[in-house]
Amino acid sequence: MADSVFNLDFEKIAGEKLLQILGERTPTSIALLDRDYNVHYVNDRLASTLAFSKDEILTKRCFELTGKTEPCPGCMMARVFQSGKKAVSMKRQTRKDGSAVTLEIHDIPVKREGRVERVIEFLVDKTRIREYRDRLEQDFMALTDMLTQILDSKDTYTARHSRCVRDVSLALARKLEMPKEQEFRMEVAGMLHDIGKVGVPWAILNKPGRLTDEEFGVIRTHPARGAEMVARFIRFRDIGPIIRAHHERYDGKGYPDGLKGEEIPLEGRIIAAADCFHAMASRRSYKEPRDRRFIKEEFRKGAGTHFDPWVAQAMLELLETGELTEIGG
Ligand SMILES: [Fe+2]
Ligand SMILES: [Fe+2]
Repeated sequence: MADSVFNLDFEKIAGEKLLQILGERTPTSIALLDRDYNVHYVNDRLASTLAFSKDEILTKRCFELTGKTEPCPGCMMARVFQSGKKAVSMKRQTRKDGSAVTLEIHDIPVKREGRVERVIEFLVDKTRIREYRDRLEQDFMALTDMLTQILDSKDTYTARHSRCVRDVSLALARKLEMPKEQEFRMEVAGMLHDIGKVGVPWAILNKPGRLTDEEFGVIRTHPARGAEMVARFIRFRDIGPIIRAHHERYDGKGYPDGLKGEEIPLEGRIIAAADCFHAMASRRSYKEPRDRRFIKEEFRKGAGTHFDPWVAQAMLELLETGELTEIGG
């Protein structure tokens, strides 16, 4: 019996009644259809996803909702009626207002005496999920920006520093033809690489004269502090090791872990180069910006010791072609 699918253990509520009870309590869109494409049940969530009223949906055959006069070619539901097996498919569906949604549709056959009598459709709105994800991503980037501004307001030197390191790191990542996902990590890590400095006293960060060994020791805690801060965000879990590594040197003489060569994450090696570029290219209270010739010489000399030779070469090419002219200072 078709109803037996639903009423075995649920206080003998008949099948379609139970479907209604569940349908109004779940965030998933649900419809119940027969083999003539008539819709017997639709929940509020599906009606709002398609922007039709429930009555409009229940008085039409499913394909008529989009103005068609016959079933969609290759209709998955029709195949489920034929095969008796459940199926999953993706479909671009036009809403009443003409906009489109991408739906992941799970078709489940409901049988009576071996014959498929109805199909229940569970529909997941992938467009909405993608919109949520994009919005979340935008919020993360805004949060990153806000954190950087907090840091910039604390340390006068890092005003513009984080953005410059991000821009140079991205330029290097593109020069090295890194995949898009790595570019995202570069962007966030570039912006947040010095975020651990929020835990360093203002008086040390902005001290005009030479730092004592003890003060320098405090400054040196910022890569590890920054890595711990971002580790709380699941979306940024790949970023922590990059931030931790941005003061490592290719020859192993950096900090905090003394990592060497390819032990240092590639993005960390790139940020280290971008960081040094900006330190040289920017004006400080005690020094004028270095010119491009001086900076090129430093990267040439530091390739293989301070810097990854491959990254240093990419930096030299960027400096040669003038691609960093707008960045820095
Ligand atoms: Fe740093
Ligand atoms: Fe930095």
